[in-house]
This record gives sequence, structure tokens and C-alpha cells, in this order.
Amino acid sequence: MAKIQLKPHTVLCPVPAVMVSCGTPTGKHNIITIAWTGTVCSDPPMLTIAVRPTRHSYQLISETKEFVVNIPSRAMAETLDYCGLVSGRVADKFAERGLTALAGSQLQYAPLIAECPINLECHVEQELLLGSHVLFIARIVAVHADADIVDDKQHINYQQAQPIAYAGSNYYGLGDYLGRFGFSRQ
Ligand SMILES: Cc1cc2nc3c(=O)[nH]c(=O)nc-3n(C[C@H](O)[C@H](O)[C@H](O)COP(=O)(O)O)c2cc1C
Repeated sequence: MAKIQLKPHTVLCPVPAVMVSCGTPTGKHNIITIAWTGTVCSDPPMLTIAVRPTRHSYQLISETKEFVVNIPSRAMAETLDYCGLVSGRVADKFAERGLTALAGSQLQYAPLIAECPINLECHVEQELLLGSHVLFIARIVAVHADADIVDDKQHINYQQAQPIAYAGSNYYGLGDYLGRFGFSRQ
């Protein structure tokens, strides 16, 4: 097949679309939808989120140095989209979408979103201005998952969690199961 060269742009796909919650020292909570996120280290467990400095959430995360990455299920796709269109400067997204803020175990200000099946409490270690976005490099300090998607070996069943993938401004569910890590050598 012949190739067509396109301008350099952000076509890496699919990426997870997540709901990042944060808070203020005065007890206010907010949610921002984030697609520019990724796992960057296993030990210690670390991830990044890239946030435009113009976002309300940027100020909160930069000040408190904490946030929670909440992985929504496919049933929450509309709420995920909403939290990426409306700013916390003008709306209480928890109240508007009937979401529950739940205290985590390690952070002071950022709550878990109870309705999301998986929640990662994160503590910011570094902030890097890249250009349009600021990269928060953060350590995962606690992981929570709904009891009905965790087996007796503490493994999460991701097919049951039903995370949402994002590609080219479109949302997708998890596709067909293709095999387990290492299956090519069996
Ligand atoms: C699917 C989706 C993905 C998004 N990903 C990002 C992102 O990675 N970084 C970012 O700064 N904004 C991203 N946004 C935009 C913010 O979520 C949006 O501007 C939001 O309203 C900001 O809320 P806040 O002002 O309350 O922080 C995304 C929006 C959508 C719908």
C-alpha cells in the first residue's frame, strides 16, 4: 500500500480517556476529562497527564500537587464528554452529573469519583511546560477498584471494567480479546 505523509500531529491511538479529579484546600472538587495521559514507569509506579495551563484544573493540580485518575466505564461516556466541555469555573460537575466524591486513602484534597470502577491516586513529582500543555509527572500512591472486578489474586478484570478508548476525536469501547502477554511463545 502506498503511504501518504501527513503533517506531524497527535495521532497516537488509541489512548485512554479518563476523568481526572482534583480539589482545593477549601474543599471544592473538580473534574477534567483527559486523553493525553500515559503510564511512564513501573517501579515506582508513575503516570503523566498533560493539561493546558488555561484549564481551571491546572491551577488546582499545580497548587495541591495531587489528582486522581478515574477510569470511567463505557456507560459513563456521556459524562466523560461533558466533563471535557464544561469548566469547573462555571459548573459543579459532580453535582451536574450526579457523581459522588469519595475520600481516597493517600491524598488530602483530590477525591475519587465513586462511580468510576478504577481510581488511581496520584502525587505530582514534576511539572514540565512543553508548549500548549504542561506535563504533570506523578507517582501512583494508591489504586482502588470496584470489588466485583477484582479477583482473589487482586487482578483487575479489564473486560468487566469496560474502559473507554479515544482516537481521532472519537470514543470507542474495548474491542475483541486477542490474547494474553506472552501468548506468541506458547
Ligand atoms: C475527550 C476529551 C479529552 C480531553 N483531553 C484533554 C487533555 O488531555 N488535556 C487538557 O488540557 N484538556 C483536555 N480536554 C479538555 C478539557 O477536559 C476541558 O477543557 C475541560 O472543560 C476543562 O475543565 P476545567 O476548566 O474545569 O479544568 C479534553 C476534552 C475531551 C472531551
